[in-house]
Amino acid sequence: MGPTGQPVLGRMTATVVLVALLAVVGVGAEATTGGETTAVVEGFMQWSQDQGLVWHPEVEVTSTHAASGGDDGYLGPQRGLKAAAALGEGTVVLSVPLRSLITAEHALLDVETGRLWDALYELSDLDIFTGFLAHLLYNPHATQDPWAPYLAILPSTDPGLLELSADEIRPYTAMPIVAALQARNYSLSMSMTDIVKMAATMAPTGGDAVAWIAQNMTWSQFAHAHFLLRSRSHRVAIRDAMAEWQHAMALVPGADLINTDMDPALLNVVCRTTDEGEGVNANFVCETTRDLDAGEELLAQYTSRAASRTNTKLLLDYGFVATNNPDDALILEVPPIPAGLSQLFKRLGFQRNMAALPRLEQPYQVQDLQLMLYFAVLEAAMTDHTLANAPVGAVQIKLEQGTHRLRGLAKMILFLEEQKEKYEAIRAIKPTTTAQQGLFDLADQEYELLVRAVHHASTLLEVMENNQL
Ligand SMILES: *[C@@H]1O[C@H](CO)[C@@H](O)[C@H](O)[C@H]1NC(C)=O
Ligand SMILES: *[C@@H]1O[C@H](CO)[C@@H](O)[C@H](O)[C@H]1NC(C)=O
Repeated sequence: MGPTGQPVLGRMTATVVLVALLAVVGVGAEATTGGETTAVVEGFMQWSQDQGLVWHPEVEVTSTHAASGGDDGYLGPQRGLKAAAALGEGTVVLSVPLRSLITAEHALLDVETGRLWDALYELSDLDIFTGFLAHLLYNPHATQDPWAPYLAILPSTDPGLLELSADEIRPYTAMPIVAALQARNYSLSMSMTDIVKMAATMAPTGGDAVAWIAQNMTWSQFAHAHFLLRSRSHRVAIRDAMAEWQHAMALVPGADLINTDMDPALLNVVCRTTDEGEGVNANFVCETTRDLDAGEELLAQYTSRAASRTNTKLLLDYGFVATNNPDDALILEVPPIPAGLSQLFKRLGFQRNMAALPRLEQPYQVQDLQLMLYFAVLEAAMTDHTLANAPVGAVQIKLEQGTHRLRGLAKMILFLEEQKEKYEAIRAIKPTTTAQQGLFDLADQEYELLVRAVHHASTLLEVMENNQL
């Protein structure tokens, strides 16, 4: 889980973290991925206890997403946590010592590859962490892997959209998500190129692990590691050597098994760093926020920003599309706005050239009207060039006169109808991979939004015409 933060965990603290960890578990284990076997789960539970994780005795690892019966549009393999017995509000279900976390700082301290990551200081922490995790998961020369039993329970296949090829993505280009995906794909592949190049220059003296990164690490391994971090890492507050709180992006064994739901009433757990204990002696603690019945799945909110909970963001960052998502919105790319109108545009609450189409409910919500007004402004600007540089007030007065607003609405309906047709073409596609299925499911949801928007806009146009507004 967890979107990207700015991990700034101090180097001093990280050293303590790693040294403490190696002291506890030793070295020499091999990383493997996947395997839906109980042996893998048991291996992880044993490891977690050796690490000092404290599980509530009534918390169990499940193999499916219990709350929604696995029917939430998530396309990869799925584990979760559930309460085996009733739990009261405020019960600590899991406590994870910070010394068992994995952060980007561990890459720099790795005996086999640390020098490589250190030389790549221009890359973001997320990119370094991605390379390091790909190394831990796939590098046959990785011998320093104290997290092996944890890495073994991570999904080995996933619906990460980055594994789509240019051909596979082509049928979906009408969707705004594709531009975001391509930008992300481009920047990540540039980072991988930098890593491979640097590893190649170090390979002659850098050892087998670095040589493997230079010669044999594949895009799909790298993309998989990236998706695991996007979808599972937490932003964790850690006190550094100066006792200041810092935030680091971290994989938190155990806590990353907790799933989410878009229905806020179902959420029942929050996780945070406790103030007790210093540095690595502190714990990342998850506790219940209400009473739980036996059998209820533990569910936490992944991001507090509603704008990060649209289905587009969920699919990009976590690999699922939620049905019945109250925070869903469709971002539409609209024609450029003349410079003089940007002030009004801002006041209406839109970013340049983007209009977020929310779920439209009866009666009309403020956003619906803002959107209508936006298109009206656009229409006015396009048909009357003198307006582009007029003061905001003048534009509004002109709009009040009505005709532009009506024409704007009519134009909006045409625009939405056009988008609908593009989405109809997408819905005729038979997806062949899980990643394609993700895009297909998203298109389905966005199509519903478009249909409703066209309906609402047509009704509103009718009302305005009938009342000569
Ligand atoms: C993403 O980048 C990889 C590596 O450069 C490339 O092989 C792949 O075709 C790209 N995918 C898309 C959808 O552009
Ligand atoms: C890379 O892969 C090739 C082919 O499998 C193998 O011969 C070679 O030893 C590998 N290089 C490293 C450094 O692992």
